[in-house]
Amino acid sequence: MAETETERNGTLVFAVNGKRFELPTVEPSTTLLEFLRSQTPFKSVKLSCGEGGCGACVVLLSRYDPVLDKVEDFTISSCLTLLCSINRCSITTSEGLGNSKNGFHPIHQRFAGFHASQCGFCTPGMCVSLFGALVNAEKTSQLKPPPGFSKLTVSEAEKAVAGNLCRCTGYRPIADACKSLAADVDIEDLGFNSFWRKGESKEVKLSRLPLYNQNDEICTFPEFLKKEIRSNVSLDSKRYNWYSPASVEELQSLLKARNINKGTEFKIVVSNTGIGYYKELEYYDTYIDLKHIPELSVIRIDQTGVEIGAAVTISKVIEALKNGNRHEVLSKGETVLEKLASHMEKIASGFIRNTASVGGNLVMAQRKHFPSDIATILLAVGSTVDIMSGHQFERITLEEFLGRPPLDFYSVLISVKIPNLESTRKVSPENNTTLLFETYRASPRPLGNALPYLNAAFLAEVSPSKTSEGILVNHCQFAFGAYGTAHAIRAKKVEEFFTRKFLNIDVLYEAIKLVRTTVVPEDGTANPAYRSSLAAGFLFEFLSSLIDSGAENSNSFLDGYASNSLANHSKLGQNYLDYSNKIPTMLSSAKQVLELSKSYYPVGEPIKKSEASIQASGEAVYVDDIPSPMGCLHGAFIYSTKPLAWLRGIQLNSKSHPDGVATVISCKDIPEFGENVGAVAMFGPEALFADDLIECAGQRLAFVVADTQKHADMAANCAVVDYGMEDLKPPILSVEEAVERSSFFEIPPFLLPKPVGDISKGMAEADHKIVSAEIKLGSQYYFYMETQTALAVPEEDNCMVVYSSNQSPEFAHSAIAKCLGIPEHNVRVITRRVGGGFGGKALQSLHVATACALAAHKLHRPVRMYMNRKADMIMAGGRHPMKITYNVGFKSDGKITALQLEILIDAGMSLDVSPIIVSNLLNGLKKYDWGALSFDIKLCKTNTTSKAAMRAPGEVQGTYIAEAVIEHVSSTLSLEVDSVRNVNLHTYNSLKLFYESSAGEPLEYTLPSIWDKLAVTSSFNHRIEMVKIFNSCNKWKKRGISRVPIVHEVLLRPTPGRVSILKDGSVVVEVGGIELGQGLWTKVKQMVAFALSSILGNVDLLDKVRVIQADTLSLIQGGYTAGSTTSESSCEAVRLCCNILVERLTPLKESLQEQMSSIQWELLVSEAHMQAVNLSASSYYVPDMSSSSYLNYGVAVSEVEVNLLTGETTILQVDLIYDCGQSLNPAVDLGQIEGAFVQGIGFFMTEEYLTNADGLMVAEGTWTYKIPSMDTIPKQFNVEILNSGHHEKRVLSSKASGEPPLLLAVSVHGATRAAIKEARKQLLSWSSQDGWESMFQLAVPATMPVVKKLSGMDIVEKYLEWSICGKK
Ligand SMILES: Cc1cc2nc3c(=O)[nH]c(=O)nc-3n(C[C@H](O)[C@H](O)[C@H](O)COP(=O)(O)OP(=O)(O)OC[C@H]3O[C@@H](n4cnc5c(N)ncnc54)[C@H](O)[C@@H]3O)c2cc1C
Ligand code: FES
Ligand code: FES
Repeated sequence: MAETETERNGTLVFAVNGKRFELPTVEPSTTLLEFLRSQTPFKSVKLSCGEGGCGACVVLLSRYDPVLDKVEDFTISSCLTLLCSINRCSITTSEGLGNSKNGFHPIHQRFAGFHASQCGFCTPGMCVSLFGALVNAEKTSQLKPPPGFSKLTVSEAEKAVAGNLCRCTGYRPIADACKSLAADVDIEDLGFNSFWRKGESKEVKLSRLPLYNQNDEICTFPEFLKKEIRSNVSLDSKRYNWYSPASVEELQSLLKARNINKGTEFKIVVSNTGIGYYKELEYYDTYIDLKHIPELSVIRIDQTGVEIGAAVTISKVIEALKNGNRHEVLSKGETVLEKLASHMEKIASGFIRNTASVGGNLVMAQRKHFPSDIATILLAVGSTVDIMSGHQFERITLEEFLGRPPLDFYSVLISVKIPNLESTRKVSPENNTTLLFETYRASPRPLGNALPYLNAAFLAEVSPSKTSEGILVNHCQFAFGAYGTAHAIRAKKVEEFFTRKFLNIDVLYEAIKLVRTTVVPEDGTANPAYRSSLAAGFLFEFLSSLIDSGAENSNSFLDGYASNSLANHSKLGQNYLDYSNKIPTMLSSAKQVLELSKSYYPVGEPIKKSEASIQASGEAVYVDDIPSPMGCLHGAFIYSTKPLAWLRGIQLNSKSHPDGVATVISCKDIPEFGENVGAVAMFGPEALFADDLIECAGQRLAFVVADTQKHADMAANCAVVDYGMEDLKPPILSVEEAVERSSFFEIPPFLLPKPVGDISKGMAEADHKIVSAEIKLGSQYYFYMETQTALAVPEEDNCMVVYSSNQSPEFAHSAIAKCLGIPEHNVRVITRRVGGGFGGKALQSLHVATACALAAHKLHRPVRMYMNRKADMIMAGGRHPMKITYNVGFKSDGKITALQLEILIDAGMSLDVSPIIVSNLLNGLKKYDWGALSFDIKLCKTNTTSKAAMRAPGEVQGTYIAEAVIEHVSSTLSLEVDSVRNVNLHTYNSLKLFYESSAGEPLEYTLPSIWDKLAVTSSFNHRIEMVKIFNSCNKWKKRGISRVPIVHEVLLRPTPGRVSILKDGSVVVEVGGIELGQGLWTKVKQMVAFALSSILGNVDLLDKVRVIQADTLSLIQGGYTAGSTTSESSCEAVRLCCNILVERLTPLKESLQEQMSSIQWELLVSEAHMQAVNLSASSYYVPDMSSSSYLNYGVAVSEVEVNLLTGETTILQVDLIYDCGQSLNPAVDLGQIEGAFVQGIGFFMTEEYLTNADGLMVAEGTWTYKIPSMDTIPKQFNVEILNSGHHEKRVLSSKASGEPPLLLAVSVHGATRAAIKEARKQLLSWSSQDGWESMFQLAVPATMPVVKKLSGMDIVEKYLEWSICGKK
């Protein structure tokens, strides 16, 4: 074949979804994601974190090897992958798997049918991650799977998406969608879906699943690209400033040239994933890609060991270590290499490991002190590295390498070598020596995708003694890393101490003490005591059972794994699942019980969410997917880093700011008749920019506008703010300081709830009192997958159209008009869908929309913004932190007689919606009958970001406070917590007293029956006994179980709707409510189909209904979508519209009926059009004030297991029952329940939204902020939606589901507390420590360090001291 022009030229050529792309020039730091999103129609590839931590941007990369004629496929994160590195590769995105035109892929269909997509922002990335696993499974030599299934196993299917985050679903349905393709799945284990109905046979169920046929699989590598590759032309390096040396010599001369010409900024890269951590802001003129140098890209395994080229990916290393030539260095079971591989499987996530190189990791560790796992584990096995500096080659130990000054930029790591320990250490049964090896890491997520607090690897060569003295340690190598140390270290003193010693308790005790003095985190490291206690715990875990078990047992230990031996002690037999494996299991099973109701068909049907399929394929359009109009500019906020200062001025650093900056907009640019307003909320306007006084770190100061989002972000980053400090008092950074300085917001009196009963009388009736107890609660970040975004387009006659991802477009509309000083009819805000809101897009999004509109107004050009995750996290505000002080009086049986509260709520610098937190908080708290309740609540104005509503705002804190009081009372009385809860549950009468009219009718109070029912369905009492047995048999793991009720009040608000019937009978619907992923549109569709069908009886109109985007000029008074009730009020609004239409159509129907026996819908509509019947009806639903608020009920039982050595909490099982009334759509409500519960787990267990001393958020991305992931949700998750029948005053008897179930997650916290209590009891039995009684407070979130601290940082030492004493 003749060479084409492009091949000769060496242009950058690649394919995306089979389409050829050829780019004559490209800026070398351009990422694949930037290219895909800005230059192609493939918008399924989403930007969410931009740092490799979420999976929203995952694509499949395919490479072709012309020699072997083989295609290699693997998933990658496109946000970190540089575009030039994909030359001659093929990319597949979710659109490439299938779409609405050519048919969806079975993966899309299954995600939709298993209800695994809510807001949909994570879904395309999930689909591609699963697809990647599927494609590779099909290439294996596994047996042919049964028809309809793939070669994937259940475990592989779940792990395929383990690194992908989802903030909406709670993961269970995603796991089901993935598992449905696995060959070994038991179809009965799959959760609720739209494919089959309960009771259908396995065969029928199978036949209903969208067919997966491996032979239909799409081609990931197009033929035309294969042909181009055969001509073997590499990229024109000079043109692209992208060099891919093919030999070490070529690399040497490239580096030499750079060394001489020191002016050019160059960077050596392999896969560029390091930038996910270091987020370098500087530009590089040139890149040198190491992937094509053979010496750096091979793994050699021979008798001397395993040599790994520095550019080899972690995935390839894992594969080689698992399958390679086995050095049987452990006597049985896994080899050292396999153990290294297992550890590496917990590094990052699959789509990172697939490209991340081992060398890149080690250089990051060496040069920049990255807390590497690879450095630690390879250090323990005595690895060496080969380095090239100029023409010099050097082999040194990894230890030496790590300890040297940072590698200069002209030196290259060539390879790393793991020695064959068997040959070096001469280990063999013949000379009575055995090698033990184990690796450890403690991290917030067991399967990875989280850096460790500490990692460790221990190698020991031991001889089981023939004498009674025990096991002799001949030699050992102990490595520790990632604990706040410059680099991983060998604990030499500990090693020396052990060498040639017989293992016994005294020796171990001394060694642990030595470890404590060796593993000392550097100053400034978070949780230093925790990290060093982990080191002690892991070493103890490695060695203790050798001592415990005695010589006989120790032989069997030597054949097995250190980790298991502890677990073996703890095995309880058949009644418990065994979670003690070193490889953590994922979600193992789930059950859903839903009662369907046909009364209002199709309302009540569990139909799948409309748009779920296009969300999966990536065709659903989010604001940032709207193509940029011509001349569009991009904006980024410049924010303050000081909490209180005068704003003197802002300058862009002329040296470092990028090209393309158009202007900086600040409050000086507000038009003459406009106001400095960014948001208009129910409690008044909020400023868009700080004027002269800055009132918090994270406050908006200005808006820089540039030609691209990247340039705008870079410019904002290098802005220099001139702060003035004169005449200012110190900032108020805590509620205590606010009290001292009387800095409060006023709470409107109508929002101040009334106290209940007579507090003095209640206190007087009490047998016991707790006085001045304190609780503190922190904040939580929304972590919507789509960050804040808007696009403003100026239109003729001084009008402005703004596309906004927003929960309250009506408020955005007003804010924009006010800011620009134009009439409201000149503004239009359009919101089609929102990629997750959770309250964070209620008001914060308004500032984004207004800033874009202001810039667009000033520049007469479209302006858009897609906030980067860091800025979003710094500016968002989040949940309200608070401090609670309480007095409680109670009887000896635990019945509480009076609760008196003083609550200080940190509202931040401005009011936002903070006043509503007060009543919400009390509503959540009133779930128990406190006898009498009084409170003094203050909204503190502080110099921190304005706190805003987040899903269940106030209610979740109220629920927690209630539980904390109950726990305190039960500890004081030494009563079972559950019995104290039980005795304080409301009767209907007390409920009425506390909640007044919201309490509804006695029959509606379902909580007591749910409370009892769940005890039965979850085998609560039996499991309490089992937990006791487990705890008595286990030293190092403790379990806890907890049952918790919730009561959650909601309020319906007025909502508009419009229903219009078009000529062909199709129906178009507008509602005030916004589709945030919560399935509002789906319920509305069902309601319209139900209400309109009444005119003709059993006609099914569901497919004829389309709900369209919110448009604030088309449908006014849309209000805001929040508080869990917008779906039902939107449904009611459209029902009113349909009733009007039915009334208008009825005379025509009746006259037609006289002429014909049956009437078709289409005929009726076309006749109506001809006869000029008005077929568009609007309504404004205003709820009846007497019944607009009502209560929601639910109960959850959670059981957890706490690892006392690490503080890790595993949620073993959650059972919950939630009363949904007659659910409008049980599938949608189930999704809300599970998703909210898991978000609640985040609040109670993992999410730390921390600030520095100035109140500036330091949790600013996926590295530091840990939302729940697939591996941290309950292992068994059973949800029952209770259909509590007819509720006269509710919308078709339905009840809310969006927020209340979040509160149920407090049960996980309660169970954790119960487990810790057991740990403390045990500790007390080992050493009578003061302050170790059962009275303690478990903070929120109960992270691993928090749990470990309460379980005993020195638990190992205490145990050993106790054992030593016992021996004596
Ligand atoms: C989301 C995420 C999670 C992660 N989690 C973990 C974890 O839990 N544990 C862990 O250990 N690691 C973790 N990592 C780190 C990951 O292993 C590294 O980012 C990766 O291995 C770097 O490889 P790379 O090929 O992408 O390097 P690049 O990003 O291309 O390079 C990294 C740095 O090393 C330099 N460099 C690369 N190769 C060489 C060489 N041969 N000689 C000289 N200089 C070189 C580059 O110039 C650059 O400065 C995580 C990374 C991400 C993105
Ligand atoms: S956006 Fe790439 S991993 Fe999050
Ligand atoms: S559906 Fe997963 S983030 Fe919304």
